[in-house]
Amino acid sequence: MKILNFGSLNIDNVYSVGHIVTPGETAASLKLEQFEGGKGLNQSVAISRAGCKVYHAGCIGSDGQSLKTLLEKSGVDLKYLKTVDEKTGHAIIQVEQSGENCILLFAGANHLVSTDFIDTVLNDFEKGDLLVLQNEISNLPYLVNKAYEKGMKIILNPSPYNEVIGQIDLNKLYCLILNEVEAECISGVKQDGFNNWAADNYPNLVFMLTLGKKGCRYIKGSTVFEQGIFKVDTVDTTGAGDTFTGYFVAGLANGYDVPDILRVASAASALAVSKKGAAPSIPTADKVKDFLKIFQIK
Ligand code: RIB
Repeated sequence: MKILNFGSLNIDNVYSVGHIVTPGETAASLKLEQFEGGKGLNQSVAISRAGCKVYHAGCIGSDGQSLKTLLEKSGVDLKYLKTVDEKTGHAIIQVEQSGENCILLFAGANHLVSTDFIDTVLNDFEKGDLLVLQNEISNLPYLVNKAYEKGMKIILNPSPYNEVIGQIDLNKLYCLILNEVEAECISGVKQDGFNNWAADNYPNLVFMLTLGKKGCRYIKGSTVFEQGIFKVDTVDTTGAGDTFTGYFVAGLANGYDVPDILRVASAASALAVSKKGAAPSIPTADKVKDFLKIFQIK
């Protein structure tokens, strides 16, 4: 079984701010740093650092060399990374002292993922292979339909949530990894009613809910597992969800038990929030193992 992540790659321009700017306000930032990011790239890096081989498919411009280098260094297979005649996608990220952030995206090359390119890449994959997706590239519904026809197991992180997600038939998915807001948008029900909604409407679909400070919850039909967070000092929450997703996918691919997967993925995302940047903050499996040992002793 192979893992393909067809996803975005961004240059993250991260501004440290006293507080996140409000509408109509002009404020000075304290610092500007540039990191490798994009939900797709972050998740591929996390899958690879968790110890699984992953192919990353996506588009960058000629200004995206640093993203390629980071992915290469992280062991991600770049056979399906295409350089196109457009600027690399970028994000403008404000991070305040508490570690909270807000993100403005420019899609750039991420929106040059064509149906032809999708067909070419999917040709090399088959029934049972895992496909990891987010919502930052073009032609996402087409990609889901084609991968479903091939019998690939599709894991979708519907982030950022917008009208494109409504064009996807959730019955074609194997797993949805989503936060509280996305869960409410998709189901139309509040948190406390979500388990029943999921079991009633999609009993065979895995829902992996990430609930911020409340931890995470795995739901498949009537099976539910929960995991609390590992409390750490928060420096920057950017990429923490992607770290969780990558470790979760790696755990599924390795066939580990769900409670173990949730524990490891939660530990990995705790380590990610304690460091600045998206991709650079994603820990390796060794670091996660050490962290879990320390937590056991405490
Ligand atoms: O999830 C964090 C990521 O969202 C950032 O790296 C940014 O590029 C956006 O894609």
